[in-house]
Amino acid sequence: MTLPDTTSAAALLDWYRSMGVDEVIEDTPVDWFEAAATAKAVVRQPTNEVPRQPASRSQSAEPRPGFNTIAPDEAVMDARERAAGAKSLEELEKALAGFNGCPLRATAKSTCFKRGNDDARIMLIGEGPGRDEDLQGLPFVGRAGQLLDKMLGAISLTEEDVYITNIVYWRPPGNRTPTTQEVAACLPFLNRQVELLDPDIIVLIGGPASHTLLETKEGITRLRGKWRDCEIGGKSRRVMPMLHPAYLLRTPAAKRHAWRDLLSLKAALKPQE
Ligand code: URA
Repeated sequence: MTLPDTTSAAALLDWYRSMGVDEVIEDTPVDWFEAAATAKAVVRQPTNEVPRQPASRSQSAEPRPGFNTIAPDEAVMDARERAAGAKSLEELEKALAGFNGCPLRATAKSTCFKRGNDDARIMLIGEGPGRDEDLQGLPFVGRAGQLLDKMLGAISLTEEDVYITNIVYWRPPGNRTPTTQEVAACLPFLNRQVELLDPDIIVLIGGPASHTLLETKEGITRLRGKWRDCEIGGKSRRVMPMLHPAYLLRTPAAKRHAWRDLLSLKAALKPQE
């Protein structure tokens, strides 16, 4: 094998970085072009297959599956079928582990299903796992997650009081915003997750989560802090969008808005007189 000279190697790395490839996922290289060429059209796997990942924290040590060639609408139908068959959050996590219809899965290391308490009244829904979440298999554990925990702590809430997930369960490469197709493939699982958890309150963290669940294109700065009743997971629930902690890390001046929204969340948790 001929090694590239250092100039072309640096140029190649530079190009990778500009394309959003900012980390090495596996120890050995995978020729995805070859994998795509040899991949058979994906056939839906039976719902009772052995999950690729038994639990959220697990990391896959097996060879990665080839590119998924499942058609987007077929992926959504498959997701709906699998999600509807789950009778508990545990079963839903297993059903998700057997689902290969979201293209993000091909590049992610872990599935980030949830963090927090399965009996929580408050559900928080973010945009999608980042690098730290992908490494640990849990939502919101990186810098933004740590800030989120502090924000919740400021109104006396801990991980025991909340259930945290995202609109997509796998890390988008380079932390880009998930595409409509990626979100659509995960949405039946998210709707079922809401239905099974049955929270009284849903906090939507950031623009993409708010746009997806409220079916609006209105900017997060207009949406934030406003409560509405919204039909999610089969029934009407109290929903409030909030600024994303990653945004707050970049824009500390916006923290005063977040504080106001946290106080509003705290007030909403008080028993009604
Ligand atoms: N940002 C998100 O939206 N979700 C995470 O899990 C982590 C960062």
